[in-house]
Amino acid sequence: MTNIVTQLQSIVGATNVLDTAQVSQRAKHFWDPSPMRALALVKPANTQEVSQILKACHNAGQSVVTHGGVTGLADGEKSCDKDIILSLERMQAIESVDAVNRTMTVEAGCILQNAQHKAIEAGLFYGLDLGARGSCTIGGNISTNAGGLSVLRYGMTREQILGLEVVLADGTILSSLNKMMKNNAGYDLKQLFIGSEGTLGVVTRAILRLRPDTPTCNTVLVAFDNYEQVIATLDHISKSLNANLNAFEILWNDFYHLTTNPNLPGSVKAPLKDDYFAYAIIEARGSNEVSDQNQFMQALEAAFEKALIADAVIASSQTQRAEIWNVRENIDITLRHKPLFIYDISLPINAMQSYLDDLRTQLRELWPDVIVYAYGHLADNNLHVTIAPEPANFIHDAQQQAVKIQSFNEKETHWYAQCNELVFKPLAKLGGSVSAEHGIGLLKKQYLKYSRTPEEIKVMQMLKRTLDPENILNPGKVC
Ligand code: LAC
Ligand code: ZN
Repeated sequence: MTNIVTQLQSIVGATNVLDTAQVSQRAKHFWDPSPMRALALVKPANTQEVSQILKACHNAGQSVVTHGGVTGLADGEKSCDKDIILSLERMQAIESVDAVNRTMTVEAGCILQNAQHKAIEAGLFYGLDLGARGSCTIGGNISTNAGGLSVLRYGMTREQILGLEVVLADGTILSSLNKMMKNNAGYDLKQLFIGSEGTLGVVTRAILRLRPDTPTCNTVLVAFDNYEQVIATLDHISKSLNANLNAFEILWNDFYHLTTNPNLPGSVKAPLKDDYFAYAIIEARGSNEVSDQNQFMQALEAAFEKALIADAVIASSQTQRAEIWNVRENIDITLRHKPLFIYDISLPINAMQSYLDDLRTQLRELWPDVIVYAYGHLADNNLHVTIAPEPANFIHDAQQQAVKIQSFNEKETHWYAQCNELVFKPLAKLGGSVSAEHGIGLLKKQYLKYSRTPEEIKVMQMLKRTLDPENILNPGKVC
């Protein structure tokens, strides 16, 4: 029996298999420059090759970690020296756009931003958007059921996917390339693979659902004096803008203060003064310039009249719109803390402020100077919390930003475990989730119990055993 690397070379050609040393030339993560680790990295050109690769690995009991853009935030892409990395980087094609039925067929390695642009070119729109758009892949979005910035309007990745082609662990090609909006012919098998983080199969192609384009865009940054205003504004704006509401992103003060701090290299311009309780970026998109703008302005004026907002700056140019979004997207600056604990949780909107207040109180008992950066996709129940226990330990020089995120020494590992309990435990009784959109991967596996019942976890494990009996696909992740 030839060894697995030799077999892979004969499937894809020697130049498309990187050995351990070549793999280590790559950064292990978008935010972590340390070397990637694997026995080898294989780059198939098509579904047939993926099938042959998985068949060989299945027969050899060889573990496989599938990679898209490597921007995930739950260690779902993490590999070790004995794993084979299956990278879909040679499978980036956009195969077709069907403008009448509003679908796009792509290979799984297609970069999200390329799919977005292709849709616009066809006068249509792809309803998924997130900060990593320029690096993340459609396959990665599917494997994590990615959410992002316009979930309140279009839903998560699950809602954008009509059909999938998936290769199962034993190499079977499961073609489920449905293009119909309605198709109730039996179980909807694609749903099994969306959000399963590479543990149940490898997605090779997808049929994306496209929407009508929304060429008009109205954006505002608003400021609040308290959380009651936040909730009332979300309610008011949702009702006033209705289907045109595209984003409602909240930034609590600590986050805004940091990303716009003029004394820090890498900070951005503050569109409003930095001492409000919280801020929100509200964006509407539609198709009629005059009526959309009127509707937007009327909604904002009414919010002022009802004293729902304390201040606002409306983007009157693309540059101003970018300045507003830069405040939200300047997340890198939060990564200069060491150590840093990053969370992605969900909980009822009306419980968020008291949850954050209680969390801050408990964290201060452990670390008196702790900083809690809170922001998120409010309308989706999704809160991002980034916790810096020792704010004095901040890397001021952006060039020195050794962002080995969530890779800790012994003391920090202990702190992380303590912090995890404080963040995750209260979510169970609130009916929240330990992962709103980033997934479970390895980082949250032991906390899955706070969001899922033992019976649910057992069924997940049953599915895993059925679809991957040799446990080769992303072993040890999720459940
Ligand atoms: C975001 C990532 C952290 O919303 O999910 O920016
Ligand atoms: Zn997010």
